[in-house]
Amino acid sequence: MNYKDKISNFNISNDAVIMGIETSCDETAVAIIKNGREILADEIISSATEHVRFGGVVPEIASRAHTTAILTATQNALKNANLTLNDVDAFAVTEGAGLLGALLVGVSFAKALAFATGKPLVPVSHIRGHIAASYLADKDLKPPFVSILASGGHTAVIAVKDYYDFEIYGSTIDDAVGEAFDKVARILGLNYPGGPNVERLAKEGKNCIALPKMLKNYKGSEFDFSYSGLKTAVINYVHNSLDRGQQINKADVAASFQSAALDVLVEKALKVIKITGYDTLTISGGVAANGYLREKLTKAVQNKNIKLVLPEKRYCTDNGAMIGAEGYLQYLKGNFADLSLNAKAVVALK
Ligand SMILES: Nc1ncnc2c1ncn2[C@@H]1O[C@H](COP(=O)(O)OP(=O)(O)OP(=O)(O)O)[C@@H](O)[C@H]1O
Ligand SMILES: [Mg+2]
Repeated sequence: MNYKDKISNFNISNDAVIMGIETSCDETAVAIIKNGREILADEIISSATEHVRFGGVVPEIASRAHTTAILTATQNALKNANLTLNDVDAFAVTEGAGLLGALLVGVSFAKALAFATGKPLVPVSHIRGHIAASYLADKDLKPPFVSILASGGHTAVIAVKDYYDFEIYGSTIDDAVGEAFDKVARILGLNYPGGPNVERLAKEGKNCIALPKMLKNYKGSEFDFSYSGLKTAVINYVHNSLDRGQQINKADVAASFQSAALDVLVEKALKVIKITGYDTLTISGGVAANGYLREKLTKAVQNKNIKLVLPEKRYCTDNGAMIGAEGYLQYLKGNFADLSLNAKAVVALK
């Protein structure tokens, strides 16, 4: 029987062990997840240090690093879970969005595993994966809830109506919030990855520099975001000060930018909570690892009967566990790919 026929007759059970494979950027990540909620193993091999001297991820270097790391990550995950490949019920892999060459390493590897074991190949949206990290953080979490998606490539406030049905209330009309952190980091002379370094510096500064309010006179959704103007305002502030021979306090710039970039996420998410009447708020994507944002959200929901789900920082940035968690949901639906699966640079947010 060929692979396609074998998979079309596959017996789907709620009790399933899913391997989640993620290679969309600079993390080679492989995890093993039981029933969508329990992490049996979780390996991340990052090539971040190889990109530092270039100031950002170099796609070719990332792809090569994936090819050398993926077997080790997989073997370690199986060993730590005390399982063999045959114990895995399906292979979930990020199909997009991300760097094509990097994605192709994970997709090809997952295809080979699926073919060799005769188990389903489950394509997963990286973005849905970020949101699914919340199911690992709170084993009782069930939709509906509101999720703030704040990552390197995306910024949105999303109503998760059920496991498969999302409504986007607002999203960025230009740069993503993580991208803005990375660009501001560069202006301030901080290394890649910028987000954690801006956060570290901001701890030593004060929010005392006036930066423009986002989307003044904007006619689109009141829940949309725009980070390009904020980034330009920071660039202008730094350059104008230096032109005038004035010293800038980099920590104050970092703190002021951080507040301007993140306070608005909290405000808009709370509005969506109010409109939907949902009582649970989750956060996802790399920027969700930001301590200032996590604290601000914790304070914002206090005494409001809103449950806040904050995934561990490790599961905010790219990881295989979130792909396994979302992979389980797609597996239950029988969303299987055949061996012609290709990587996608862009996937729709929904
Ligand atoms: N502590 C932090 N504070 C602010 N930003 C952070 C922090 N940690 C990580 N980030 C930012 O998160 C981003 C990385 O997150 P993530 O891995 O989710 O993005 P991505 O995978 O590149 O993009 P996407 O998920 O949208 O495809 C980077 O822009 C990084 O600067
Ligand atoms: Mg990501």
